[in-house]
Amino acid sequence: MLKEKMLNALNDQINAELYSSYLYLSMESYFQSLSLKGFALWMRAQVQEELFHAMKFYDYVCDRGGRVVLGAIEKPDASWKTPLDAFKQIQKHEQHVTGLINSLVDLAMKEKDHATLNFLQWFVAEQVEEEASVGEIVDKLKLIRQDTSGLFLLDAELGKRVFNPPAGGE
Ligand code: FEO
Repeated sequence: MLKEKMLNALNDQINAELYSSYLYLSMESYFQSLSLKGFALWMRAQVQEELFHAMKFYDYVCDRGGRVVLGAIEKPDASWKTPLDAFKQIQKHEQHVTGLINSLVDLAMKEKDHATLNFLQWFVAEQVEEEASVGEIVDKLKLIRQDTSGLFLLDAELGKRVFNPPAGGE
């Protein structure tokens, strides 16, 4: 059984993951409006990944006999000045999410909740990967700047991304 403090923090994280998904869906729409289909496809995969994260927390709370309580999801931004601005926001947001995961780890340690500590390790590793992949795209967009042909090349590259949920929900 989860302790109340841990349960509340995990419920908050479900909301944070759903907000991430909502933010990236808004960005997908922004890229659709620019006819940058590859960026939009990359963003769709990101939306699915965040929903997967939310459901992973959801299932974990249920498995531990906790009650999931959903809250309101904050309204995301709707437009950005440039693709670089959008990706800079993703980078900042993912750094924020890493901080949230680390705080959950701290709480699980404090509460001596070994099962939750073990569960969270997957997210610790996932955040390293997320920050790295977004950081790479930010770097490329900085190199491209106003170069339209570079933007189209990156669009083609990002369009190859497909979200494959890890086998067994892992
Ligand atoms: Fe669910 Fe992008 O972290």
